[in-house]
Amino acid sequence: MSETDPTASPETSVAELTPRRARLEHKRLAAEVQAANDAYFQDDQPIMDDASYDAKRRRLVALEEAFPELKDADGVSGKVGAKASGKFAKIRHRVPMLSLDNAFSDEAVAEFAARVYRFLGRKEEAGIAFTAEPKIDGLSLSLRYEKGELVSAATRGDGEEGEDVTVNARTISEIPHVLTGEDVPEIAEVRGEVYLGHADFAGINQRQREKGLPEFANPRNAAAGSLRQLDATITAARPLRFFAYAWGEMPVLPAATQSGVVEAFERWGFRTNPLMKRCESVAEMVVQYRLIESQRATLGYDIDGVVYKVDDLSLQARLGFVSRAPRWAIAHKFPAELATTILEAIDIQVGRTGALSPVARLKPVTVGGVVVTNATLHNEDYIRGYDSKGERIRDGEPPDIRVGDTVTVKRAGDVIPRVAAVDLSKRPADAVPYVFPTHCPICGSEAVREHNPRTGKEDAVRRCTGGLICAAQTVERLKHFVSRDALDIDGLGDKQIEFFHTDPDLPVKAPADIFTLAARDEANFKKLKDKEGFGAVSAKKLFEAIEAARRPPLNRFIFGLGIRHVGETNARLLARNYGSFQGLREAVAAAADPASPQRQELDAIDGVGPTVVEALLQFFGEPHNQEMLDRLLVEVAPQPLEAVATASPVAGKVVVFTGALERMTRDEAKAMAERLGAKVAGSVSSKTDLLVAGPGAGSKLKDAAKHGVEVIDEAGWFDLVGG
Ligand code: IVH
Repeated sequence: MSETDPTASPETSVAELTPRRARLEHKRLAAEVQAANDAYFQDDQPIMDDASYDAKRRRLVALEEAFPELKDADGVSGKVGAKASGKFAKIRHRVPMLSLDNAFSDEAVAEFAARVYRFLGRKEEAGIAFTAEPKIDGLSLSLRYEKGELVSAATRGDGEEGEDVTVNARTISEIPHVLTGEDVPEIAEVRGEVYLGHADFAGINQRQREKGLPEFANPRNAAAGSLRQLDATITAARPLRFFAYAWGEMPVLPAATQSGVVEAFERWGFRTNPLMKRCESVAEMVVQYRLIESQRATLGYDIDGVVYKVDDLSLQARLGFVSRAPRWAIAHKFPAELATTILEAIDIQVGRTGALSPVARLKPVTVGGVVVTNATLHNEDYIRGYDSKGERIRDGEPPDIRVGDTVTVKRAGDVIPRVAAVDLSKRPADAVPYVFPTHCPICGSEAVREHNPRTGKEDAVRRCTGGLICAAQTVERLKHFVSRDALDIDGLGDKQIEFFHTDPDLPVKAPADIFTLAARDEANFKKLKDKEGFGAVSAKKLFEAIEAARRPPLNRFIFGLGIRHVGETNARLLARNYGSFQGLREAVAAAADPASPQRQELDAIDGVGPTVVEALLQFFGEPHNQEMLDRLLVEVAPQPLEAVATASPVAGKVVVFTGALERMTRDEAKAMAERLGAKVAGSVSSKTDLLVAGPGAGSKLKDAAKHGVEVIDEAGWFDLVGG
């Protein structure tokens, strides 16, 4: 045991501990177990694996047995619940499980409908029917039936891959084991929401209380915790329920409309929501929304909005998806919930791009069933109450926000809670205006507000200029690199990145360092498995997960680099356009010359605007980034995107659309071409393979002639791609 940390070695037998050491170790363990409980029961985000949790808990109990005076000190040992495990087998979804875009107002719903009409090139009079149904606040589940029999059940996970909870799902009485009815297809993946009713939720928490165990924060967390139990008898004892509302793989559909398929679900033995209605207009949709909202309090289960879906499935197919959400559906969320509390402090967090974000530390308050202790204050102007032009940002008095103020906190769905208003009548006499730092609180570099050259406006965000010398930026970039939508390395989350960043034995300062961890650990005298928070199993698993991440899909790799303005969608566009990382890197290097053909190609990628081009040039033009990439590419080999449809005659081709199209709108044409693996460009160059020209085509036809590009009309396009 070291001198500096008397609590470091859990191996020391309890009997050998002095009371002081026992007290210190008890305090530390109690805090860790409490944090794990909160993460699990309050946030439904486990931060510890089962084995470490159980080990810590056992040690805590042993300490209390040997030193009974510790029992009352923190009181968590008796309250330790059976924490669910994250150790389920994975199931890859054959059809991804998508999320929904949100609308927060009637206007936003009207805009959604207008987008649908525009995309399909229909006039509003043509009439498109939408379904409206409650958005259940539970967790989604995909049930696979083969020849009518339930064969597997998977959680959503990251949408591509979920957890195999088949055994647990079978204990839910509202999930049929066998489907009934004439029209049950050979293969049917039925999707819907697992949830808990209010009364059952109260009962579960009552039993938790009686056993001295922690309570769940809300029904959704309780439902998630109950479903994701390694011991399915626990799931069976929790009265989980299920509404069916969507589907995955189902080669033969029982109807041609959304509402028709849901009706079939009911015939097959599922419960479907009785408040689902087919609406002929936006006005009807909003009426149904108001009706559902008015029943919200008496439904007996949590809902957080209304989902609208285009009813006609052939239209759904034409509309397709953007990123991870369908163009044919939207969630109309209920208004945010409010609570009043005291602003105790303002902290500044430094993000991946150096942005200084003010965070309100609040006296804990329950907002819509969740305890909130932090909320965003957006930026410097928001705190001051005026933007850089001197315009008021919030209505009401006072304009500014001060530490000590009584504030209204707003929380809408999964969105981060925010400080929305201040009550001046309660402002303490000694409250002083908040002074926003002009230097980075982490590295001390100057923090500045940039001017946007295009708009001439001052950026609302103040950014640390420390770049790579700023530890906060480095750590946040690393977290982003390994995050779920980027390299997705299991067991390497925010906490572990923070640990490795400062660990003297296995420092990780740049992405490449992650991939040398195992080799460095091998060579080290002090092993990772002997360190606090790790163990032989978790260290081994971590190294395996890192090994498995050496061949990331190109789009995720590009996204993971954290280039400003390059989100998932742009990363995918770039991956598709350049095919390989080498290709992208060389092209962007050459594109630094504004007159180069590479620059023209970059500018021509549909969807990649000038801000993104600028950000790419800047990122690849920075020698530090080039060094970082050189080191990283020794370790990892990004994999080109599988051609979306290699069999398609336009896969890999560069296509340009021009002139009027009759059977489809321009957006639809673009989406269709991309689905078939083509790249859509906005202008004709020597790289163009095909120009699809409708009536009224102009200069692009001349360009095509100049570059010898093949030209076809819309009918020719449909002949080519097959209907
Ligand atoms: S449809 C392709 N319908 O909301 C669209 N989702 O924010 C698939 N949800 O992951 C989803 N009630 O867990 C749909 N009536 C409903 C829903 C619903 C709840 C959840 C679902 C989904 C999330 C998206």
